[in-house]
Amino acid sequence: MSTPDQQSFYDAVGGADTFADLIHRFYQEVAHDELLRPLYPEEDLGPAEVRLRMFFEQYWGGPRTYSEQRGHPRLRMRHVPFRITELERDAWLRCMDVAIASIDDARMSPDRKQQLRTYCEMAAQMLVNTPMGG
Ligand code: HEM
Repeated sequence: MSTPDQQSFYDAVGGADTFADLIHRFYQEVAHDELLRPLYPEEDLGPAEVRLRMFFEQYWGGPRTYSEQRGHPRLRMRHVPFRITELERDAWLRCMDVAIASIDDARMSPDRKQQLRTYCEMAAQMLVNTPMGG
């Protein structure tokens, strides 16, 4: 995505440090969310945190470590094992909103925060795989 005269979103918001803070904050919320926490199979959320961080870094123009380690993202397929209704979607987005808000505006401008939110809303909607009550 980045050409010499066009900085990636990843670089513009502070690169690895910003993404590490963002995704760490996200999992702090997940850890206390009674709907989401039981979905994560491992007791330690650390490995899940690393995978989501690598994915976000890659998507926003940073290092491609995610695909080197995990292959093609295929997010819809990877979420099939989890029951995701609108409730889980909204809980996930709430955690992400808290995480985005925790990043200083000086690092990530309000415009870029909105870009991130819009993307997350689209992606989370795509991952809903169970009708309510189903
Ligand atoms: C993995 C839940 C939305 C990206 C996971 C896992 C769970 C989960 C339980 C397994 C944790 C692990 O990695 O061991 C959910 C729920 C969502 C949601 C309930 C609500 C809609 C999203 C969204 C994205 C995303 C919107 C991306 C924008 C990922 C990635 C992985 C993952 C990259 C790791 C896949 C892998 O390499 O194995 N998710 N997720 N998820 N999720 Fe989600």
